[in-house]
Amino acid sequence: MACRHDAPSTSDAPVLTREKPTATRASEPLPLPKTGAGNFESLVADYESKERGIWQKPELVIAMLGDLSDKTVADIGAGTGYFTFRLVPKAKKVIAIDIDQRFIRFLDSVNVRLPLQYRERFESRLAKADDPLLMPEEADAVVLVNTYGYIQQRVQYLKTLSKGMSPGARLLIIDFKKNNLPIGPPEEYKVALSQVEKELITAGFVVEKIDKDALDYQYIVLATKPSKTKTQSEQ
Ligand SMILES: C[S@@+](CC[C@H](N)C(=O)[O-])C[C@H]1O[C@@H](n2cnc3c(N)ncnc32)[C@H](O)[C@@H]1O
Repeated sequence: MACRHDAPSTSDAPVLTREKPTATRASEPLPLPKTGAGNFESLVADYESKERGIWQKPELVIAMLGDLSDKTVADIGAGTGYFTFRLVPKAKKVIAIDIDQRFIRFLDSVNVRLPLQYRERFESRLAKADDPLLMPEEADAVVLVNTYGYIQQRVQYLKTLSKGMSPGARLLIIDFKKNNLPIGPPEEYKVALSQVEKELITAGFVVEKIDKDALDYQYIVLATKPSKTKTQSEQ
Protein backbone atom coordinates (compact mmCIF):
# COMPACT_ATOMS: atom_id res chain seq x y z
CA MET A 1 0.00 0.00 0.00
CA ALA A 2 1.35 3.38 -0.89
CA CYS A 3 0.73 6.26 1.41
CA ARG A 4 1.14 9.98 1.76
CA HIS A 5 2.70 11.84 4.63
CA ASP A 6 3.41 15.32 3.47
CA ALA A 7 1.74 18.06 1.53
CA PRO A 8 3.89 18.11 -1.60
CA SER A 9 5.72 21.25 -2.61
CA THR A 10 8.56 22.27 -4.86
CA SER A 11 10.87 19.31 -4.76
CA ASP A 12 14.39 18.32 -5.70
CA ALA A 13 13.23 14.73 -6.09
CA PRO A 14 14.24 12.78 -9.21
CA VAL A 15 12.89 13.16 -12.74
CA LEU A 16 9.90 11.06 -11.86
CA THR A 17 8.51 14.01 -9.93
CA ARG A 18 8.17 16.47 -12.76
CA GLU A 19 4.44 15.97 -12.87
CA LYS A 20 2.82 18.53 -10.61
CA PRO A 21 1.33 16.99 -7.49
CA THR A 22 -2.44 17.22 -7.38
CA ALA A 23 -2.72 18.91 -3.98
CA THR A 24 -0.53 21.73 -2.81
CA ARG A 25 -1.99 22.89 0.47
CA ALA A 26 -2.07 21.14 3.80
CA SER A 27 -5.72 22.04 4.15
CA GLU A 28 -6.48 19.98 1.06
CA PRO A 29 -5.52 16.43 2.05
CA LEU A 30 -5.28 14.00 -0.81
CA PRO A 31 -7.28 10.81 -0.64
CA LEU A 32 -4.87 8.05 0.23
CA PRO A 33 -4.22 5.73 -2.71
CA LYS A 34 -5.39 2.50 -1.08
CA THR A 35 -4.13 0.14 -3.77
CA GLY A 36 -1.02 2.07 -4.62
CA ALA A 37 -2.38 2.50 -8.15
CA GLY A 38 -1.35 5.72 -9.89
CA ASN A 39 -0.06 8.84 -8.24
CA PHE A 40 3.38 7.33 -7.75
CA GLU A 41 5.20 10.45 -8.89
CA SER A 42 3.50 12.63 -6.32
CA LEU A 43 4.27 10.08 -3.58
CA VAL A 44 7.93 10.26 -4.54
CA ALA A 45 7.86 14.06 -4.45
CA ASP A 46 6.15 13.88 -1.07
CA TYR A 47 8.63 11.49 0.56
CA GLU A 48 11.63 13.36 -0.81
CA SER A 49 10.44 16.94 -0.32
CA LYS A 50 13.09 19.52 0.63
CA GLU A 51 11.10 20.60 3.66
CA ARG A 52 11.09 17.11 5.10
CA GLY A 53 14.64 17.43 6.39
CA ILE A 54 13.49 20.25 8.67
CA TRP A 55 10.85 18.26 10.50
CA GLN A 56 12.11 14.71 10.00
CA LYS A 57 15.64 15.32 11.38
CA PRO A 58 16.96 12.07 9.89
CA GLU A 59 20.43 12.35 11.42
CA LEU A 60 19.00 12.72 14.93
CA VAL A 61 16.75 9.74 14.33
CA ILE A 62 19.51 7.51 12.96
CA ALA A 63 21.81 8.44 15.85
CA MET A 64 19.29 6.84 18.21
CA LEU A 65 20.29 3.45 16.81
CA GLY A 66 23.88 3.86 17.97
CA ASP A 67 26.88 2.50 16.09
CA LEU A 68 25.64 0.57 13.07
CA SER A 69 28.98 -0.22 11.44
CA ASP A 70 28.70 -3.94 12.20
CA LYS A 71 24.92 -4.15 11.97
CA THR A 72 22.34 -5.24 9.44
CA VAL A 73 19.46 -2.76 9.42
CA ALA A 74 16.00 -3.46 7.98
CA ASP A 75 14.05 -0.42 6.78
CA ILE A 76 10.46 -1.65 6.67
CA GLY A 77 8.17 0.36 4.43
CA ALA A 78 11.26 1.85 2.84
CA GLY A 79 9.36 3.82 0.18
CA THR A 80 11.84 5.90 -1.82
CA GLY A 81 14.62 5.06 0.61
CA TYR A 82 14.60 8.35 2.52
CA PHE A 83 16.09 6.49 5.49
CA THR A 84 17.62 3.55 3.60
CA PHE A 85 20.08 5.69 1.68
CA ARG A 86 21.02 7.68 4.78
CA LEU A 87 21.64 4.41 6.62
CA VAL A 88 23.73 2.76 3.91
CA PRO A 89 26.93 4.79 4.60
CA LYS A 90 26.65 3.99 8.32
CA ALA A 91 25.63 0.32 8.43
CA LYS A 92 27.17 -3.01 7.46
CA LYS A 93 24.09 -3.79 5.38
CA VAL A 94 20.65 -2.25 4.81
CA ILE A 95 17.65 -4.28 3.69
CA ALA A 96 15.03 -1.99 2.16
CA ILE A 97 11.69 -3.74 2.56
CA ASP A 98 8.43 -2.74 0.92
CA ILE A 99 5.25 -4.36 -0.33
CA ASP A 100 4.94 -2.10 -3.36
CA GLN A 101 6.90 -3.29 -6.37
CA ARG A 102 7.10 0.28 -7.70
CA PHE A 103 9.12 1.36 -4.65
CA ILE A 104 11.35 -1.69 -4.96
CA ARG A 105 12.11 -0.69 -8.56
CA PHE A 106 12.68 2.91 -7.47
CA LEU A 107 15.03 1.83 -4.68
CA ASP A 108 17.01 -0.38 -7.08
CA SER A 109 17.25 2.49 -9.56
CA VAL A 110 18.75 4.74 -6.89
CA ASN A 111 21.09 2.04 -5.66
CA VAL A 112 22.73 1.42 -9.05
CA ARG A 113 23.94 5.03 -8.97
CA LEU A 114 25.72 4.66 -5.63
CA PRO A 115 29.47 4.12 -5.33
CA LEU A 116 30.28 0.39 -5.36
CA GLN A 117 31.20 0.28 -1.66
CA TYR A 118 27.65 1.42 -0.77
CA ARG A 119 25.88 -0.53 -3.49
CA GLU A 120 27.14 -3.76 -2.02
CA ARG A 121 25.63 -2.94 1.37
CA PHE A 122 22.13 -2.54 -0.05
CA GLU A 123 19.46 -5.11 -0.70
CA SER A 124 15.83 -4.49 -1.65
CA ARG A 125 13.17 -6.99 -0.66
CA LEU A 126 9.59 -7.23 -1.81
CA ALA A 127 7.75 -8.42 1.28
CA LYS A 128 4.23 -9.44 2.21
CA ALA A 129 1.79 -7.17 4.00
CA ASP A 130 1.81 -9.52 7.00
CA ASP A 131 5.47 -10.54 6.92
CA PRO A 132 8.67 -8.54 6.29
CA LEU A 133 10.28 -11.79 5.09
CA LEU A 134 13.41 -11.49 7.20
CA MET A 135 15.44 -14.62 7.77
CA PRO A 136 15.68 -15.78 11.40
CA GLU A 137 17.62 -13.21 13.45
CA GLU A 138 18.75 -11.46 10.26
CA ALA A 139 18.32 -7.83 11.39
CA ASP A 140 20.27 -6.18 14.21
CA ALA A 141 18.18 -3.03 13.94
CA VAL A 142 14.83 -2.20 12.33
CA VAL A 143 13.33 1.14 11.36
CA LEU A 144 9.63 1.57 10.69
CA VAL A 145 9.07 5.18 9.70
CA ASN A 146 5.64 6.49 8.73
CA THR A 147 4.51 2.94 8.05
CA TYR A 148 3.20 1.47 11.32
CA GLY A 149 -0.36 2.71 10.77
CA TYR A 150 -0.58 0.91 7.42
CA ILE A 151 0.14 -2.49 8.92
CA GLN A 152 -2.84 -4.70 9.72
CA GLN A 153 -2.87 -7.03 12.76
CA ARG A 154 0.13 -5.28 14.15
CA VAL A 155 0.75 -7.47 17.20
CA GLN A 156 1.02 -10.55 15.00
CA TYR A 157 3.20 -8.56 12.58
CA LEU A 158 5.52 -7.54 15.42
CA LYS A 159 5.80 -11.15 16.59
CA THR A 160 6.75 -12.24 13.08
CA LEU A 161 9.18 -9.33 12.82
CA SER A 162 10.75 -10.28 16.13
CA LYS A 163 11.76 -13.67 14.72
CA GLY A 164 13.76 -11.85 12.05
CA MET A 165 15.62 -9.77 14.65
CA SER A 166 18.72 -10.81 16.54
CA PRO A 167 18.46 -10.93 20.36
CA GLY A 168 18.91 -7.41 21.73
CA ALA A 169 18.13 -5.84 18.32
CA ARG A 170 16.55 -2.39 18.34
CA LEU A 171 13.30 -1.42 16.70
CA LEU A 172 12.67 2.25 16.00
CA ILE A 173 9.11 3.27 15.24
CA ILE A 174 8.42 6.83 14.14
CA ASP A 175 4.98 8.00 13.22
CA PHE A 176 2.69 11.00 13.18
CA LYS A 177 1.13 12.26 16.38
CA LYS A 178 -2.63 12.04 16.59
CA ASN A 179 -3.28 15.75 16.26
CA ASN A 180 -4.65 17.94 13.58
CA LEU A 181 -1.25 18.46 11.96
CA PRO A 182 -0.47 20.48 8.84
CA ILE A 183 1.22 17.38 7.37
CA GLY A 184 0.81 13.64 7.64
CA PRO A 185 -1.77 11.05 6.72
CA PRO A 186 -5.47 11.21 7.59
CA GLU A 187 -6.23 10.46 11.25
CA GLU A 188 -7.51 6.98 10.39
CA TYR A 189 -3.98 5.95 9.41
CA LYS A 190 -2.43 7.20 12.65
CA VAL A 191 -1.85 5.03 15.69
CA ALA A 192 -1.82 6.68 19.11
CA LEU A 193 1.50 6.47 20.91
CA SER A 194 -0.08 4.64 23.86
CA GLN A 195 -1.41 2.02 21.43
CA VAL A 196 2.03 1.52 19.85
CA GLU A 197 3.51 1.01 23.29
CA LYS A 198 0.80 -1.48 24.25
CA GLU A 199 1.20 -3.45 21.03
CA LEU A 200 4.98 -3.64 21.38
CA ILE A 201 4.72 -4.96 24.92
CA THR A 202 2.06 -7.50 23.91
CA ALA A 203 4.33 -8.71 21.12
CA GLY A 204 7.17 -9.25 23.61
CA PHE A 205 9.33 -6.17 22.99
CA VAL A 206 10.80 -4.01 25.73
CA VAL A 207 10.05 -0.32 25.27
CA GLU A 208 13.32 1.49 26.03
CA LYS A 209 12.52 5.07 25.14
CA ILE A 210 9.65 7.26 24.08
CA ASP A 211 10.26 10.75 22.74
CA LYS A 212 7.34 13.02 21.94
CA ASP A 213 9.34 16.22 21.73
CA ALA A 214 12.35 15.73 19.47
CA LEU A 215 10.24 15.88 16.32
CA ASP A 216 7.45 18.44 15.88
CA TYR A 217 4.94 16.18 14.16
CA GLN A 218 6.00 12.69 15.16
CA TYR A 219 6.70 10.50 18.13
CA ILE A 220 9.71 8.21 18.38
CA VAL A 221 9.58 4.83 20.09
CA LEU A 222 12.71 2.78 20.64
CA ALA A 223 12.12 -0.84 21.62
CA THR A 224 14.33 -3.90 21.86
CA LYS A 225 13.86 -7.57 21.35
CA PRO A 226 14.92 -9.07 24.66
CA SER A 227 18.12 -11.07 24.70
CA LYS A 228 17.58 -14.79 25.06
CA THR A 229 16.92 -15.77 28.64
CA LYS A 230 19.14 -18.56 29.80
CA THR A 231 17.49 -21.93 30.12
CA GLN A 232 17.98 -23.73 33.45
CA SER A 233 20.56 -26.10 31.95
CA GLU A 234 22.60 -23.11 30.68
CA GLN A 235 22.63 -21.36 34.07
C1 LIG B 1 4.40 6.75 4.05
S1 LIG B 1 5.41 5.61 3.26
C2 LIG B 1 6.90 5.80 4.21
C3 LIG B 1 8.13 5.54 3.40
C4 LIG B 1 9.44 5.75 4.15
N1 LIG B 1 9.54 4.94 5.34
C5 LIG B 1 9.60 7.19 4.50
O1 LIG B 1 9.52 7.53 5.70
O2 LIG B 1 9.78 7.99 3.59
C6 LIG B 1 4.86 4.00 3.73
C7 LIG B 1 5.54 2.88 2.97
O3 LIG B 1 5.20 1.65 3.61
C8 LIG B 1 4.91 0.68 2.62
N2 LIG B 1 4.05 -0.30 3.30
C9 LIG B 1 2.74 -0.22 3.59
N3 LIG B 1 2.33 -1.31 4.26
C10 LIG B 1 3.43 -2.11 4.40
C11 LIG B 1 3.67 -3.39 5.00
N4 LIG B 1 2.71 -4.10 5.59
N5 LIG B 1 4.93 -3.89 4.97
C12 LIG B 1 5.94 -3.20 4.38
N6 LIG B 1 5.76 -1.99 3.78
C13 LIG B 1 4.53 -1.46 3.79
C14 LIG B 1 4.28 1.47 1.49
O4 LIG B 1 4.36 0.78 0.26
C15 LIG B 1 5.12 2.74 1.52
O5 LIG B 1 6.27 2.62 0.72
